Amino acid sequence: MSGEAVVARELTVAYEDFTAVVDATFSVRNGEALGIVGPNGSGKSTLLKTIAGLLKPSNGELVVLGEAPRRLAAGTIAYVPQVEAVDWSFPATVWDVVAMGRFARLRFWQHFGERDGDVVRNALALVGMSALSDRHIAHLSGGQQQRAFVARALAQEPKVLLLDEPTTGVDAATEDALGEIVRRLAADGMPILMATHDLDRVEQWFDRLLVLDRRVLALGTPREVVESGAYAAIREHTHTHGHLRHDHEPHLAHSAHPEIMGSG
Ligand SMILES: Nc1ncnc2c1ncn2[C@@H]1O[C@H](COP(=O)(O)OP(=O)(O)O)[C@@H](O)[C@H]1O
Ligand SMILES: [Mg+2]
Repeated sequence: MSGEAVVARELTVAYEDFTAVVDATFSVRNGEALGIVGPNGSGKSTLLKTIAGLLKPSNGELVVLGEAPRRLAAGTIAYVPQVEAVDWSFPATVWDVVAMGRFARLRFWQHFGERDGDVVRNALALVGMSALSDRHIAHLSGGQQQRAFVARALAQEPKVLLLDEPTTGVDAATEDALGEIVRRLAADGMPILMATHDLDRVEQWFDRLLVLDRRVLALGTPREVVESGAYAAIREHTHTHGHLRHDHEPHLAHSAHPEIMGSG
């Protein structure tokens, strides 16, 4: 299999009325961490969901560990969704959440056994959450919630790890911890794909970077991508979409309605 864990060739993914990813060609090797950057709505989550097998490609080819994602054994691909996709009122402790990672792997006749408990404990330790294992997930900080969900993914003992903006809304210590986890897992051979808005960290975190805006705009080492200029364009774009949009709208209103200038 030549070490390629994920291979996409001219991959296109469409919702009913909108094509979110167009002709994406890239691959990720075992032990490689690929960062996916791009403005809001550029298709990052769509791409990860497709690799997770939650969405079907509408065109092109997608092979994960030599198979179509949906043909892989349950639990092979771990996918940590963006935080807003999680129901925090779900009555579960940290331990319960992480233990769920094991059930992806258990057969219906198997019970949660000693080894499963060990895997859960190890996953909790790896993300620094051992002391909080009895806490209800609703009573965690954003950073602790994100760590719990990463631990659940690791408890699956996956062969591919997909992370969707895990650093959004987390504290600096969690961000550093996640960075270390990504590097350690990659060093152990895990292929990792991670969407991120955190443009300042990409050189430390990732072996390669994919710049996405429905299409692949650039693909290479973080340095190559910075030098290509595509990254600068995205940085500008991401910033505009992320923070400056609120500053722009009043300006547009001002030009259309000069009478409101200076009123607030
Ligand atoms: N379920 C859906 N149905 C229709 N369009 C969707 C759906 N989910 C996302 N989209 C659209 O697809 C585009 C890409 O979304 P997404 O993959 O979430 O981007 P990103 O994660 O980069 O912000 C956006 O324009 C979004 O509005
Ligand atoms: Mg997204």
